[in-house]
Amino acid sequence: METNADNSILDIQNLNIEKIKKWNDEYYNNKGKRRKFYCLTMGCQMNAHDSEKIIGMLSRMGYDKTESEQDADFIIYNTCCVRENAEEKVFGKLGVLKHLKKSNPELIIALCGCMMQEDFVIEKIKKSYRYTDIIFGTFNFHKLPELLLSRIETGSQIMDIWKEHGEIAEDTDYIREFPYRASVNIMYGCNNFCTYCIVPYVRGRERSREKSDIINEVKKLVSDGVKEITLLGQNVNSYGKNLKEPVSFAQLLREVNKIDGLERIRFMTSHPKDLSDELIYAMRDCEKVCNYLHLPFQSGSSRILEKMNRRYTKEKYLSLIEKIRKEIPDIMISTDIIVGFPQETDEDFEETLDVVRKAGFSTAFTFIYSKRIGTPAAVMEGQVDDKTAHRRFDRLLEVLNDGIRRVQEPKIGKVYDVLVEKISSQEGTVSGRSTDNTLIHFNGGKELIGTTVPVKILENKTFYLIGERI
Ligand code: SAH
Ligand code: SF4
Ligand code: F3S
Repeated sequence: METNADNSILDIQNLNIEKIKKWNDEYYNNKGKRRKFYCLTMGCQMNAHDSEKIIGMLSRMGYDKTESEQDADFIIYNTCCVRENAEEKVFGKLGVLKHLKKSNPELIIALCGCMMQEDFVIEKIKKSYRYTDIIFGTFNFHKLPELLLSRIETGSQIMDIWKEHGEIAEDTDYIREFPYRASVNIMYGCNNFCTYCIVPYVRGRERSREKSDIINEVKKLVSDGVKEITLLGQNVNSYGKNLKEPVSFAQLLREVNKIDGLERIRFMTSHPKDLSDELIYAMRDCEKVCNYLHLPFQSGSSRILEKMNRRYTKEKYLSLIEKIRKEIPDIMISTDIIVGFPQETDEDFEETLDVVRKAGFSTAFTFIYSKRIGTPAAVMEGQVDDKTAHRRFDRLLEVLNDGIRRVQEPKIGKVYDVLVEKISSQEGTVSGRSTDNTLIHFNGGKELIGTTVPVKILENKTFYLIGERI
């Protein structure tokens, strides 16, 4: 149905949205209540941002949001397949939905996201989960209204999986999870093919959005009250290389930094192999760019890094950290770590602990290696047994947590500007983040949400700090 004419994707989308809206309005006129949708986001920030766009479409189609699956007329799971347990969770939940569908035959179940790009998943759904209604992948979620309309009109299961990307749908009409904070895609896909990782297979090749489209989107968000934006990409450091007029990520940051009214700029994820001096200087110079960098190192063993196809060594990673700290002394750095990659020995693992001890991370996301069908690592010899992987994982957490506590300790007594996000569970307190991305709880009420206030740090709880307003 797509043509290459400008805006055709969104024109078709709008047409279908209108049709479903009518269908939903009729329901409302007859029943006096609106149909409801339930959307579950199972993956990373990209996945969450896709959900915001999906929720935007559903709202425009006349659905109300519900937090309860039992209450919903339309259930959508935006899936992730980066590790096996994410997939198992989906199949587990689908079993439960079968019963819901029995008690409410009108219920429409949709599955989308990364997992749907895997052939074996589609085979399994065709065989064992025939009661699901709409299945689509990562490249065509802008087609949701069209697919839903086909489902309503035909009553049969609709499957539409693209194997690669089409035109980028410049849809900026989404519903944000937070009023003061927003994510903006700057690029899609990944070309790095780390040997353990499924993302390049399910998200396709790297492609960047035009700088002007990104700037316009950020300006629009700022005029709508957004103070903090996160620029999203699997490897933001290679942004702009494939554009007709190449732009570097550092240049993009400097441009976004000029936008009036914007307070904070964050970005993720950075790949160490592409982190240039130019980017470090841009981070240092741009006052809106936060004092925070997420820089996954995955393993401290250069031997394992090579098998992972990460294209840097332990020494290169550590010297990069040193260079960054020299230019931006108070920066907080977080990371991702995998333990139990094939052939990882105790000595390799000690190298990982060594990086943790030397780098001084403020937080870390830690994972036990998970075999992904179709990736080179899945067929490597020397897969590490579960018991060893878990032993290393527990040890890693001990060393990490000790390091994180030490990194946060010197903050006691100092004052940080906190952008308040929400009310905390403890009465009379709110929480938010300093520009270095540390979670801080302090005394205050809901009127502070969305404002930036100075807070003095009183106590270090390792994963968050406690402070008081000054
Ligand atoms: N593009 C980002 C990461 C995306 S996936 C980057 O390169 O930094 C997020 C994290 O999941 C990765 O950094 C890695 O630590 C972890 N991960 C990816 N594949 C995995 C696998 N097969 N098993 C365990 N962890 C994995
Ligand atoms: Fe996966 Fe590596 Fe790409 Fe990150 S850079 S998404 S870990 S292949
Ligand atoms: Fe993200 Fe998971 Fe897909 S980590 S890119 S949602 S596989």
